[in-house]
Amino acid sequence: MNSLAEAEAQKAVGRRPAIHSLYVRITHWINAVAMLIMIGSGWQIYNASPLFPFTFPSEVTLGGWLAGGLLWHFAAMWVLAANGLVYLVAGLVTGRLRRKLLPVSARSVMADLAVALTGRLSHADLSVYNAVQKLLYLGVLVAGLVIVASGLAVWKPVQLRPLAVLFGGYEGARLVHFFAMAFIALFLVVHVVMALLVPRSLRAMVLGR
Ligand code: HEM
Repeated sequence: MNSLAEAEAQKAVGRRPAIHSLYVRITHWINAVAMLIMIGSGWQIYNASPLFPFTFPSEVTLGGWLAGGLLWHFAAMWVLAANGLVYLVAGLVTGRLRRKLLPVSARSVMADLAVALTGRLSHADLSVYNAVQKLLYLGVLVAGLVIVASGLAVWKPVQLRPLAVLFGGYEGARLVHFFAMAFIALFLVVHVVMALLVPRSLRAMVLGR
C-alpha cells in the first residue's frame, strides 16, 4: 500500500465510531477495581462471622482484620454505587443498554452456546455481543443491583426495615448478599478468561477501538 493509501486507511479507522464509548470504558474499569475491593474486603468481613463451614484464605482478603475490612468495604461501596448509577442512567437515557443487550431469547442463547462450545463463534464484529454475552452481562447487572440492595439491608436493617423484610429479614439479606457475591465472582472468572482468549476485546475496552 502506498503512503497516501495508508494515510487514507488510517483516517478511515479514526472516523469509525468507537466500539465502546469513553463513559463505558471509564465506568467499566472503575467498577472492576471497586468490585475487587468489595469482594476482598467482603471476604475479610465474612471470615469474622462465617455463614457456612468455611472461611476465605487470608491471602485473598483485604483489610488485615475485621475493622480494616469494614473500612475498605464502606469506602469502596460509594464508588461502586455512584459509578454504577452513572453507567445505568447513561445507558438507559442514550438507549445504549437496550441496543447492546436486548433482545435475548433462550433459543439464541442455546444456539450461540452450541457454536461457542465447538469453537466456531465469530469475534469479527466486537461492537455486537453474542446472546451468551448478553445474558451474562444482563445477569451481572441484576446481581449488581441485588448486591447493593441486600448490602444496604444488612448495613441498616432497622432504618431500612422494608428493604430488609424484602430479603426475609437480616439473615435472609446476608444470604442473598453472599450468593450475589458468589455469582459475581464466578462471572468475573469466566469474564476475564474470555477477555484473555480474545485480546482484541480487551484492547477495545481500554482504547475504544
Ligand atoms: C478485572 C477484570 C476485568 C476485565 C479484564 C474485563 C474485561 C472486559 C472486556 C474486554 C469487555 C468487553 C467485552 C467485549 O467487547 O466482547 C468487558 C465488558 C463488560 N464487563 Fe468486564 N472486565 C473485568 C471486570 C468486570 C467486572 C468486575 C464486571 C462486573 C461485575 C464487569 C462487567 C462487564 C460488563 C457488564 C460488560 C459489558 C459492558 C457494556 O458493553 O456495557 N467486568 N469487560
